[in-house]
Amino acid sequence: MTDEERLGDADEAEGEEELDRSLRPRSLDDFLGQGSVSLQLGIFLTAARQRGEPLDHTLLAGPPGLGKTSLAGIIASELEAEFHPTSGPMMERKGDLAAILTAIEPGGVLFIDEIHRLNPAVEEVLYSAMEDFQLDVVLGQGPSARTLRLDLPPFTLVGATTRTGLLTTPLLGRFGVVQRLDYYSVADLARIVSRSAGLLELEIDEAGAEALAGRARGTPRIANRLLRRVRDVAQVEGQAVIDEAYARKALGVLEVDELGLDDLDRQILRCLAITFEGRPIGLGTLSDAVGEAPDTVEDVYEPYLLQEGLLARTPRGRIATARAYRHLGLEPPKPDAAQGGLF
Ligand SMILES: Nc1ncnc2c1ncn2[C@@H]1O[C@H](COP(=O)(O)OP(=O)(O)O)[C@@H](O)[C@H]1O
Ligand SMILES: [Mg+2]
Repeated sequence: MTDEERLGDADEAEGEEELDRSLRPRSLDDFLGQGSVSLQLGIFLTAARQRGEPLDHTLLAGPPGLGKTSLAGIIASELEAEFHPTSGPMMERKGDLAAILTAIEPGGVLFIDEIHRLNPAVEEVLYSAMEDFQLDVVLGQGPSARTLRLDLPPFTLVGATTRTGLLTTPLLGRFGVVQRLDYYSVADLARIVSRSAGLLELEIDEAGAEALAGRARGTPRIANRLLRRVRDVAQVEGQAVIDEAYARKALGVLEVDELGLDDLDRQILRCLAITFEGRPIGLGTLSDAVGEAPDTVEDVYEPYLLQEGLLARTPRGRIATARAYRHLGLEPPKPDAAQGGLF
């Protein structure tokens, strides 16, 4: 499962994508929160525009739903440049990348989502394209094969990844700008909820927006998703204005708990606390037990559980923390148990 599908069933995935697009910030001014990222990017963009040069290749890193794709689009629109979005897994062969690179006009922005999932052969082509704006094309096969070197117009590569640790050193080294997005504060998420409500022509007061924000796991995409769900409940019940009490009631209907955890988050914690009885568990065992891909558990679920102090990584494996036990309504194990004094 990808993060796109979180909190939504398959039927809704398309509507959700449309929602993401319609609520996506289009300019740096619309991009709320992440103060230092937008401040720095704003400076780099202005400087590049003043010099009439393309922006340095930029890497955006951070958990899903924090605004990487939005920022890539904003970079292109602030530069008034054409935007060419693609993704690592979409480019299977060198030729796929070559076709895209040769179609870019001077100053254009090439966005590669999930850049850590590039095929190594494709990635190699990218090195000289990024560094020297040159593309080596091999013509023919066998002994008669020749290499043709093509000049590319200067362009900006914007890459997005859930973790910079997954990038190879040569690729990472070719980015002049690396920006890391972090989970949003409740106050920033509340501003995002209010902005989205305005776009959806839905009336929500400040406390109502904050109630949603508090359960959005630090993630704008989830905040928008919760807003849409609450809008559904309000529409069916004929509620005109979402205030705090109504937001809480609707969230209760949606079974989102006070920490914003969803079913799989709770399943992970229950697995560690109950199924494996508090013993440290490796990523593979844990993801098998909850029926998810290890990458998904590590990139999509664990970062927030770690940040909230619900899950800990020890040298011997993952464990649920005392806070997690309490959240699940369980008694935390005694300090002298197998956990090695973490409690
Ligand atoms: N800083 C922000 N301000 C306002 N809305 C945001 C912000 N970041 C993300 N969003 C909302 O969250 C959605 C998901 O963001 P996206 O850029 O697709 O995240 P990512 O690419 O990191 O997974 C966007 O469609 C947008 O509605
Ligand atoms: Mg994205």
